[in-house]
Amino acid sequence: MKFTHFSLLAAFALQSVYSVPNLPSDALKPRRTSSILINPPAQPPLPSVQEAASASASVGLNLTNIQGDILIGMKKNKELFFFFSIVDPTSFKAQLGADILPFITSTTQVLDVSTQPETLVNIAFSQKGLTELGITDNLGDTLFAAGQLNDASNLGDTTSDWVSEFIDPNNLLHGVLLLASDATDNINSTLSQIQNALNGSISEVYSIQGQARPGDQQGHEHFGFMDGISNPAIAGFSTQLPGQALVAPGIILVGEGGDGTARPSWATDGSFLAFRQLEQRVPEFTKFLIDNALSEPNLTADQNAELLGARMMGRWKSGAPIDLTPLADDPVLAADPQQNNNFNYSHPGFNITTDQSHCPFSAHVRKTNPRLDLNNANFTNHIIRAGIPYGPEVTDAEAASNTSSTDPSLERGLAFVAYQSSIGTGFAFLQQKWANNANDKNCASSYSLPQGQDPIIGIAPEDGPRSVGGLDPLDPTRDITMNQDFVISRGGEYFFSPSLSAIQNTLSA
Ligand code: HEM
Repeated sequence: MKFTHFSLLAAFALQSVYSVPNLPSDALKPRRTSSILINPPAQPPLPSVQEAASASASVGLNLTNIQGDILIGMKKNKELFFFFSIVDPTSFKAQLGADILPFITSTTQVLDVSTQPETLVNIAFSQKGLTELGITDNLGDTLFAAGQLNDASNLGDTTSDWVSEFIDPNNLLHGVLLLASDATDNINSTLSQIQNALNGSISEVYSIQGQARPGDQQGHEHFGFMDGISNPAIAGFSTQLPGQALVAPGIILVGEGGDGTARPSWATDGSFLAFRQLEQRVPEFTKFLIDNALSEPNLTADQNAELLGARMMGRWKSGAPIDLTPLADDPVLAADPQQNNNFNYSHPGFNITTDQSHCPFSAHVRKTNPRLDLNNANFTNHIIRAGIPYGPEVTDAEAASNTSSTDPSLERGLAFVAYQSSIGTGFAFLQQKWANNANDKNCASSYSLPQGQDPIIGIAPEDGPRSVGGLDPLDPTRDITMNQDFVISRGGEYFFSPSLSAIQNTLSA
């Protein structure tokens, strides 16, 4: 599609309400009647514009200056990650401020259907990208500055599993455009408008198309579990739900209250984006559950297989937390955001340091958010998860053979996105210090048993078998052996998602 002056102006009028003082009256007309986001009942609703405005006023947050993807979590319907290289920095900078900024969607715009654009557009830059644009300031995050490839061994990754585009030094991965909408056509047409406006100043390095899973699996990741339930509430943005962690805005947003690191002032209201392409071996995972089904009396074999999966994740596929309903799913509880996060691993008369009957110490949600294991006093190691599944559903042939196809077009997994003001206390901490660490003492110094690795995302040393304890409620000392990982890191990159004012005043200057 050819990019016309009219479409540029229209896009500007439609999408940059935040920055245009004298808007023509029709620019404020609602242009959407259905949301670009999904909103399954289990996922907490976003605040209304009015709620967010009064919350943000109380802490001085400017939601019109914050890119729209950062605080909304895993609610995307379809999302394209378009990784690019800047081939003509001078021209790119000129076009970024003049032509691309109007496409960039703010948080305020996303909150109401009537102000949502056709396609949510966000942009983020790697350290290499900022350097290419002549930005020499130290953003105060060493992992970001070094890039994810340099962090791969700390994360436990096997770089031979990485896709070449994340590893090849000739691929100058300078940035990523995130384009999200309810229809692929919208994404494609917005991307071609942006590419036309950029007029050859960027080139595509790689892209990943994510989409919510179909039908009743909408909001569920590929293993089948409802996702996007538990993100921390952000002071100044969202209202804390029962059981939900509440963190200062500066845990997610650079330069805001709670971010103790010295940063250049222009970086305020940006956020570091940790991107990971996490392949999921779904047929193998399903077979593992069947082969190692637990032996709870009064449950069928299928139910015992489901129970094992729920204990590995910490939630049933519906999203109901096993800490509240340890032996049977509860879909009503799962669908109620007032209840489905309201647990902390303690119970009356229950010894949290020894008793894994409700939830194993190693369950994915317990490893990545230990709640009362850390006295509910951890206000630092939190992220906003904003990823989306990618790849097709399991084919009949894969299901019949219990094996993922080697056809790359059938690869599936999670396009994982985490936002935080410090990658070292956010994503990298959760992955390295908690999920991968079998003898994690930080989490549970006085506990009777080592926690074990996270069976979902913990990475086995040298891809060998590993034992996970605590999964069997009848005998928590019994180890279950996993001969393979069901989540394989295919690599990624660390980016910085700047504020709209930084895009206008610093990155384009
Ligand atoms: C393919 C890989 C992954 C899958 C399938 C997966 C799946 C899930 C599911 C189903 C939940 C429960 C739903 C919810 O609470 O929203 C969850 C929660 C969570 N995951 Fe993951 N996840 C993956 C990767 C990761 C990674 C890499 C991290 C960070 C290093 C992570 C951090 C978390 C956190 C912090 C929670 C919320 C825990 C809580 O507050 O209770 N996940 N994940």
